[in-house]
This record gives sequence, C-alpha cells and structure tokens, in this order.
Amino acid sequence: MTRFPTYRGRRLRGSKPLRALVRETRLSPDRLLLPLFVEPGEGVRLPVTSMPGVSRTSVDGIVADAREAHEFGVGGVLLFGLPREKDERGSEAWAGDGVVQSALRALKAELPDLLVVTDVCLCEYTSHGHCGVLEAGEVSNDPTLELLARTAVSHARAGADLVAPSDMMDGRIGAIRHALDEAGYPQLPIMSYAAKYASAFYGPFRDAADSAPATGDRRGYQMDPANAEEALLEVRSDLAEGADIVMVKPALAYLDVIRRVKEETSAPVAAYHVSGEYSAIMAAVERGWLDEAAMEEALISIHRAGADILISYWAREFARRS
Ligand code: PBG
Repeated sequence: MTRFPTYRGRRLRGSKPLRALVRETRLSPDRLLLPLFVEPGEGVRLPVTSMPGVSRTSVDGIVADAREAHEFGVGGVLLFGLPREKDERGSEAWAGDGVVQSALRALKAELPDLLVVTDVCLCEYTSHGHCGVLEAGEVSNDPTLELLARTAVSHARAGADLVAPSDMMDGRIGAIRHALDEAGYPQLPIMSYAAKYASAFYGPFRDAADSAPATGDRRGYQMDPANAEEALLEVRSDLAEGADIVMVKPALAYLDVIRRVKEETSAPVAAYHVSGEYSAIMAAVERGWLDEAAMEEALISIHRAGADILISYWAREFARRS
C-alpha cells in the first residue's frame, strides 16, 4: 500500500459547517465605515457616474442613507462635503453652517447612536483643488495647519464623533490635537490618513467630490506608491503627535503596507478601499465580467492583511448581505 502524506487539506473543506469552524477571518459590518457625499440644498440626489451606487446627496437624503446603513449594522459613516462656493483658502470647510456641519447636526439629532466621522481636508473647498493654501503655486504646509485645525474644531462643535485628516500636511495631527484640546474636546479621537499615497485610484472620487487639482498633482504631499518604509515613518510620527487610529490608503494595492503597519503598531489600523478600487470592480460587475462576490473577497482580504477598520462604498451592501 502506498503511503499517502499525512496532511490532506481537503479534509477540513468538505462541508459548510467544517469550513465555518476553521475560518480564520470574519468581517463584521461594525468594522465598516460608509463614505457619504453631502450636497447643499434639499431633495437633491445626484448619481456619481463613475461610482455606481454612490450619489451626492443633500442632508435629508444623507439622514435616510445613514439610517439604512445604521439599521444594517454598519459601523458608522464618513462625511465629505460639497460646498456652496469654493475660494482660495477653502473657507466653507470651517463654516459653522457648512454642508458637513449641517449634516452632522441633522445626523446627531435623528440618529444619536450612529458614529459620525468627518474627513478633514481643504481640497473639496478650495477653488484650485489642492489640499492646502497655495503660495507661489506650491501648497504651503505651515499656514495650512491652522485652517485644518479650525475645520476639525468646527466639526467637533457640530457633533463629530471622530475626525479624519486626509490632507498629508506635516504636523497636522499635532496641530489638530492641540486645537481640539484647547477648544474643550480632549476626548475627541483622531483617525489619521497616515500613509496616504499619491494614487491614480482616487480618480472617481475626484469626480464625486469635484476636487481634482486645477494645476499640478498631489505628489508634493501624498506618498510615492513605491515606498513602504516611509509609511512606517509617517505612522510613527502621527502616533507621536496624537493620532488614535492610523490609516493606510488605498487598500487593495497596499496590502503589504497594511500588514507592516499592523505589525509595527498596537494602535487600531484602518484601510480605505478607495473609489477607483471600488469602481473597477463595480464596472466589471455591470458588464457581467465579475460577480459581486469579488467585492466581498476584496474586503475580507483587506481585513486579513491587518486592517481593523475598513472604509468602503460597499459597506451598506456588505452589511445587507451579512
Ligand atoms: C481628500 C480625499 C481624497 C480621498 C479621500 N479624501 C482624494 C484625494 O486625496 O485626492 C480619496 C477617496 C477615494 O478615492 O475614495 N484629500
């Protein structure tokens, strides 16, 4: 009799309950955050052509979307704002009656148990589309910090549960932490977009948020996709400045970075499955080239790589199926 090697991997794959028993990674919807784009006005819902299933929605619709996500068990929502007007400095970002601030107040009144996170950045609010103030055509780091801090404080005042700076200016976590403490919000946590790459996968988002830079690109402040060591430097420095959660973005193309960040820190790690990563799959699904299970596979892979928190445009759909 020929001896078979002792290991037969298929033994534990023979039935659904056995597979469930030995499953290593489970993604529960409460780890997911759903991004929502807040548009001024009432009764407005503008589908984003390059992001199937995503729309720019006025506050009334945002509340309805958030309620549905909340009822399905999604962990929270992440707000982006489309301002009424843009200017050089992005002043609508910190306006007390700005779109995000109004959405925050409505969400807190209607859904007090829902976790509401806000993106803190200037690119949706500046006329030039850059994430900070321009000086001689360059994004000037230090003068931008005060504006970001102001924006974060205005979100805190309107009821944000967590603020998420995505601008990639140096020193912004420290500046925001300091401003929040001074304004009486020492308990408000910060989720830093710590390792944010200058990625081509943000294309559809820039349609959604109308935030493509009018000139140049973001390579002077976002990270080079070729670098992983540098991600660890960014993460360590943001934690030292007071970040409570660190994020890697994009996600699927940076699973190695997620894993290294997870291994190097004990802080919770978030990952953003960004617009282009989402839309690539959705476009293939629409053509019948991929099954939607591909999206679930992408999300579980990001979690398996080490992300504790996932930001996904598919969060509601994922929760609905769970
Ligand atoms: C703002 C911001 C961007 C994204 C999140 N916050 C765009 C950018 O940096 O150009 C991208 C999100 C996505 O693509 O889904 N700075």
